[in-house]
Amino acid sequence: MKQLLIIIGLLFTMGAGLTGCYQDVIYPNAAVDPDGPPQFVSYKTDLEPLFNNQCAKAGCHVSGNHHPYMNTGISYNEIINGGFVNTTVPKESELYIMINGEMKEYIPSATDRQKVYDWIRNGAPNN
Ligand code: HEM
Repeated sequence: MKQLLIIIGLLFTMGAGLTGCYQDVIYPNAAVDPDGPPQFVSYKTDLEPLFNNQCAKAGCHVSGNHHPYMNTGISYNEIINGGFVNTTVPKESELYIMINGEMKEYIPSATDRQKVYDWIRNGAPNN
């Protein structure tokens, strides 16, 4: 009987010990590989409004100032005809280089910059 009580006591202590040291293991979100398969991006829905709001400011990418002009309705042709994207080597695109460099402050969201990159990798469609 005494032995049984000792065993029960031991098991109880071990059980309490194990519960005490249980820790939540937090798995970091799987880092999204920026060069992984490109997501679908619509120029009309995702990029045109973004460029209009964040680039086509007075004195910036508007008529009479800096190309590419980024107003709604003209930005697509400005970007494509101005040679600001290289769909063969997307990272050599002037647009990609500028949004990850000099112009980064105007497009602070990494998600938005990834959309621009994926759109170029998708062949810069007028979609
Ligand atoms: C996310 C928004 C923006 C994008 C995508 C963008 C994109 C670009 C690109 C592609 C160029 C290179 C043009 C070239 O090589 O000829 C450029 C240059 C320039 N942008 Fe922006 N831009 C943005 C916002 C702005 C804003 C808000 C301003 C004004 C405050 C601005 C002012 C300039 C200036 C002054 C240059 C000429 C820089 C130089 O010659 O070194 N940009 N931008």
